[in-house]
Amino acid sequence: MSATEFIRLKKANCTNCYKCIRHCPVKAIRFSGGQAHIIQDACIYCGECFVICPQNAKWIYSETEAVKSILLQNEVYVSLAPSFISYFDTGISCMKDALKKLGFAGCEETAVGATIVKNVYEQLIQEEKKDVLILGIESSCDETAASVVKNGRTVLSNVISSQIEIHKLYGGVVPEIASRNHIERINQVIQEALDEANVTLDDIDAIGVTYGPGLVGALLVGVAEAKAIAYARNLPLVGVHHIEGHVSANYIEHPDLEPPFLCLIVSGGHTHLVIVKDYGEFEILGRTRDDAAGEAFDKVARAIGLGYPGGPKVDKLSKEGNPNAIEFPKAKIGDCPYDFSFSGVKSAVLNYINHAQMTGEEINRADLAASFQKAVVDVLVEHTMLAAKDYGMTKIAIAGGVASNGTLRAAMEEACKKNNYSFYRPSPIFCTDNAAMIGVAAYYEYIKGTRHGWDLNAVPNLKLGER
Ligand code: KG4
Ligand code: ZN
Repeated sequence: MSATEFIRLKKANCTNCYKCIRHCPVKAIRFSGGQAHIIQDACIYCGECFVICPQNAKWIYSETEAVKSILLQNEVYVSLAPSFISYFDTGISCMKDALKKLGFAGCEETAVGATIVKNVYEQLIQEEKKDVLILGIESSCDETAASVVKNGRTVLSNVISSQIEIHKLYGGVVPEIASRNHIERINQVIQEALDEANVTLDDIDAIGVTYGPGLVGALLVGVAEAKAIAYARNLPLVGVHHIEGHVSANYIEHPDLEPPFLCLIVSGGHTHLVIVKDYGEFEILGRTRDDAAGEAFDKVARAIGLGYPGGPKVDKLSKEGNPNAIEFPKAKIGDCPYDFSFSGVKSAVLNYINHAQMTGEEINRADLAASFQKAVVDVLVEHTMLAAKDYGMTKIAIAGGVASNGTLRAAMEEACKKNNYSFYRPSPIFCTDNAAMIGVAAYYEYIKGTRHGWDLNAVPNLKLGER
């Protein structure tokens, strides 16, 4: 390597927009010839043009914080790979000019810088080899939960304090009561999670917490707790999307499962059909136009007099009923074959009950529950299979509270078998709200370099894919 292949950069009037860092994570660093090579994979000036990394070295994880702290120092050392230079007409001088425009004055050529960068990153890689323990916290609805997760896949503890018994009295979740109970229980739940995992906060590498979507008051309890621990212990804070957590529950018991795959997300507040393109990256194919699947289960359960929480009760009662006793409508959305609508079937059930009451007919509740459940499950399975075929997906997963439904699990398994697809589903305990799934999702964000600040807030209507 000749001396001209190295530049030494001094930061002068950089505006600290960090565009350069965002576009040059450590994933573009390579080691060879005893040197560390930072290879820009996008323009450090405008963020778009300038260079395309010739050897996008993906095998080193992004560590944006580390790069940021290096760049924030007065002098920044960058080494360029020889092959990099040969790719560009104007070569190194063009690179230097752009850097100068960005505010880095006095680019000097040096090989010393490369060695410094190499040492820093070798240290980071050593750290990466250690086990990563995440403390996950979940409080978005009526479960106060904490969990310790190792390396994103191994659950060391999973403590869930459910408020079902309290809310049962009111026929549904009362937000104020939920918040108050989270406050009363959260410290104890976290301590139990640490004890069960046989660790202390000293062993934890980062705190992951659900910050949306959910009930704002309930979310705030977890977020405030996570921030307090992270601040007191000087630990990184990673905010997690609740639904991303549900999807990530699939990684716990399926070590072979990696994106891309198709996932049907069915919970109390959400019904989405998505392609999980990468960890934390989703393409939404379909969603519900009205009620979520779980919501329909809960409303129908209430109408039949089963009470709260409805889903598991409908599931149980259905086992005694005939799913073909009553034919309920299965909505199809003309312009989007992957979208769902459950308000029609819910209304049909209510009309059926009203009609029976008016005519004095006796209702067979088990048949009613089983027939309703069949109508919902058939649509969920049909849409998922259609999307799998259209998008050429062969790995199918389900997630969310309704994913613990016995009929859905069996029907999806059968359909996947028929089509030769691999089927993945979390155990029921990881389908309904828990913090293990939050710890898993937080792990994958953590190793990507995602960090939240002390301004992290609860976002009750956080959309999937939003940060
Ligand atoms: O994912 P989850 O625990 O909370 C949300 O994020 O919404 O989902 C709760 C929903 C509730 O509507 C509940 O009735 C439903 O999941 N659910 C079920 C079953 N278990 C829970 N629905 C049908 N069958 C079940 N076995
Ligand atoms: Zn949930």
